[in-house]
Amino acid sequence: MTQNYLVTGAAGFIGSHLSEALIARGAAVTGVDNFDAFYAREVKERNLAGLLELPGFRFVEADLARDAVPLDGIDAVIHLAGKPGVRPSLEDPGSYMEANVTATARLIDAARRVGLSRIVFGSSSSVYGNATPAPFAEDTPAVSPISPYAASKRAGELLAHAFAHLYPLQIVCLRFFTVYGPRQRPDLAIHKFTDLIARGRPLRMHGDGSSERDYTYITDCLDGILAALEWTAKAAPGTVETVNLGGGERVRLDRLIALIARALGQEARIERHPDQPGDVRLTDADLAHAGRVLGFKPRVGIVEGIRKFVDWYEEIHGRQSRASGRAGYGAIHLLEEVIATGRAFADAHHLLGLSYSLAGQADKALDQLDRALALNPNYIEALIHRALVLNELGREEEANTMLRRARSVTTERRGGFHGHVAAKLANQHASLAQAYLEAGGLTEAIAQYEAALTLGPTFHDLRYKLGRLLLEAGRALEAHEHFQIIVRERPSFLDAAAMLGLACYLAGDGLAARAVWEELRARRPEDPRVEAYLALLSRSDVAPVGATAEKAERKKKKK
Ligand SMILES: NC(=O)c1ccc[n+]([C@@H]2O[C@H](COP(=O)([O-])OP(=O)(O)OC[C@H]3O[C@@H](n4cnc5c(N)ncnc54)[C@H](O)[C@@H]3O)[C@@H](O)[C@H]2O)c1
Repeated sequence: MTQNYLVTGAAGFIGSHLSEALIARGAAVTGVDNFDAFYAREVKERNLAGLLELPGFRFVEADLARDAVPLDGIDAVIHLAGKPGVRPSLEDPGSYMEANVTATARLIDAARRVGLSRIVFGSSSSVYGNATPAPFAEDTPAVSPISPYAASKRAGELLAHAFAHLYPLQIVCLRFFTVYGPRQRPDLAIHKFTDLIARGRPLRMHGDGSSERDYTYITDCLDGILAALEWTAKAAPGTVETVNLGGGERVRLDRLIALIARALGQEARIERHPDQPGDVRLTDADLAHAGRVLGFKPRVGIVEGIRKFVDWYEEIHGRQSRASGRAGYGAIHLLEEVIATGRAFADAHHLLGLSYSLAGQADKALDQLDRALALNPNYIEALIHRALVLNELGREEEANTMLRRARSVTTERRGGFHGHVAAKLANQHASLAQAYLEAGGLTEAIAQYEAALTLGPTFHDLRYKLGRLLLEAGRALEAHEHFQIIVRERPSFLDAAAMLGLACYLAGDGLAARAVWEELRARRPEDPRVEAYLALLSRSDVAPVGATAEKAERKKKKK
């Protein structure tokens, strides 16, 4: 039977996404919204445009604080209507009480009068104020809100408790932690900053950039709302659950700005301003309760989420913003991203150094060129570019030393190929290997990686890939040899250690695998794969080599 839902605030950011998600699951949705003037009606009409075409959707323009609530045939209510925004609530607190408290009281009351018991209410992390210890858990008191908006949301939650005490209702109050994604409200920081950076305009950063927020990507938020809806179908009458929905990570404001700038390929021009009254310094969701009650687990991290948001923004506003920025910054952001993966090679540092020098940032350029040279001391281009930067800075003596070093490298060829040429050739082999793999040529791909390693036995990233392919090809002993070399020569390469364990296991040596993985567990306790591997051992045919021996020993002792 088709489920019928009432989504309030359906023209808003979260409400429009939720309505789409419900219809995509085969439900029918009645959407209510009063096009509150908090932000432009046209934006809300755009949010609704796709929905109005869908057969399962019906829209009613109504103000929940005054008008009748369309509850005919509705199975459950998701109440997302409300006046959002912390700072504006200081200016006009009365309107917040009306939209967030009166409307909520009227809605729950109307629902219980028609015998409708299932309600999900969109509350906010702001209820935790500044006095709650992080991470914020639902059972902390949350009695010190620091803005009228936060107080109005807490009042909504308390109304839920009062009604569930009086009537057999099942209500979930979801505390949203800054939700973002396509169609995000234009007043929210991510949207505002993206817009300003894309247009090359300065942005106001309040505080020193160290304030932190837990950001939730819209699809994770929707997962949480849908799970809450299911909860209302199963819960006992007269129950209220309060659940945090967060992104699972604290993101500093200055990092957020850098991520947006990087995704846009633009420079952020930051104007510093004092902290804003009403703003909390930190939000940080404890998600343990959400996991237990709703099986909630956020899946989209901030880097991926910001990229998706910026993709959407550029789809709507065009990409001209990117071209209007200084081209060099695009390269800088991209290369910084490569380097942030921790797998940077000398080329990335060299190119980043070059980009910085083109952008007129000589100190940063020298730093990156130094890093390139630390990885490959004979990197000709890096030596020459370093000399050029030093020369520009008027450090001629040092520049000349650099150039002399560059000259001596060209004459001194060690072991056939010169270091950076060998690295380039090895990378070509790796690219070829990738192409073979895509065409299904596992053996050929292995041969390419082997060729790459003859050029540079210390290219451990390539050796790691070779090891993995050998495992795939069922050549566990050879893979074992390669992973062992990596682990010996680069002990910090923990992924290689994980694979070494797997190679031992696949080669039939369960005990050695256990030893490797247990050591890895001690060094990387948070890695769930290691637990999975160890669990695999205790279930497998191989692991019992140890286990059976132990059992036999125990039996012997018993006798
Ligand atoms: N987006 C977030 O990061 C976030 C964080 C915490 C809490 N919340 C809460 O989640 C809910 C949805 O947030 P959003 O970001 O989608 O906001 P939104 O402003 O985009 O959507 C809310 C919608 O409610 C409508 N509305 C307001 N008052 C109404 C009334 N009296 N009658 C009918 N409709 C009314 C508005 O016109 C708007 O379209 C809000 O209650 C908000 O307070 C959002």
